[in-house]
Amino acid sequence: MAEGKEIYGDLELPHSSGDFPYVVINMVSSVDGGTSVSGKASGIGGRVDRESMRTLRSKVDAVMIGAGTLRAERLSLGLDDPALTQPLAIVLGGQGELPIEEHLITTNQKVLAVLPDGAVEQVERSAEVLYAPRNPETPGGGPGGIASVDLQWVLKHLRADYSVERLLVEGGPSLNRQLVSQNLVDELFLTVAPVLVAAGSPSILSPDPGFTRRDLMLKSAHTADDHLFLRYHMRATA
Ligand SMILES: NC(=O)c1ccc[n+]([C@@H]2O[C@H](COP(=O)([O-])OP(=O)(O)OC[C@H]3O[C@@H](n4cnc5c(N)ncnc54)[C@H](OP(=O)(O)O)[C@@H]3O)[C@@H](O)[C@H]2O)c1
Repeated sequence: MAEGKEIYGDLELPHSSGDFPYVVINMVSSVDGGTSVSGKASGIGGRVDRESMRTLRSKVDAVMIGAGTLRAERLSLGLDDPALTQPLAIVLGGQGELPIEEHLITTNQKVLAVLPDGAVEQVERSAEVLYAPRNPETPGGGPGGIASVDLQWVLKHLRADYSVERLLVEGGPSLNRQLVSQNLVDELFLTVAPVLVAAGSPSILSPDPGFTRRDLMLKSAHTADDHLFLRYHMRATA
């Protein structure tokens, strides 16, 4: 049976083509599709999931999350070995607090907070701030009141100005759903953990009645310690 770090050890993600980085999402879900318990994701996956997550991070230039994921619990977006080159940690915020120093565990890792133009939120000094234009389709606030930045603009700037060729997105469901809706995601890595949670939490994509179905292509499936590790390519939309 494979160890978590072996599962994607040989993985080579493509470089970006065109203006955008190559974008992959990685999430862990329970068998009944829950992504958090009591508001936290950390209880769902086991050691092998944690290891495979670190391995995926070692294959990219940057790891991005939404503010909701940062607020939920203390977490790392880096590699355990501080001697290794750390991916850029990116937190995308709209209008709420960003507890970077309290919740983001970093060692030798640069942190970038992405906020909408005109945001008044104070970002702690440990992070650089990139102000981004608002989404032209939701200038006054997106679904759920999000003061939504233009994700296409953000991805282009990460590629052009921060040399992000490969970007790993680790949620949460709200950010994932926007990226998928806008056809900005190339691959989805999903760990199915051997647990039922009946938590009523969103699936890997937050609900959206306007969402258009997307078809996936299974690229690989591994098992380790009763977890299922699935890798999908997004099929081109018609
Ligand atoms: N199972 C897993 O693998 C996994 C992974 C990650 C998270 N989670 C769980 O998911 C839950 C959080 O879900 P969530 O959907 O709220 O998380 P999220 O997508 O990380 O955060 C949503 C927030 O991010 C900001 N945001 C998202 N899109 C934006 C945009 N286009 N422009 C500007 N800001 C944007 C907004 O912040 P503002 O509020 O500041 O406007 C928004 O409220 C937590 O319980 C967490 O534990 C699970």
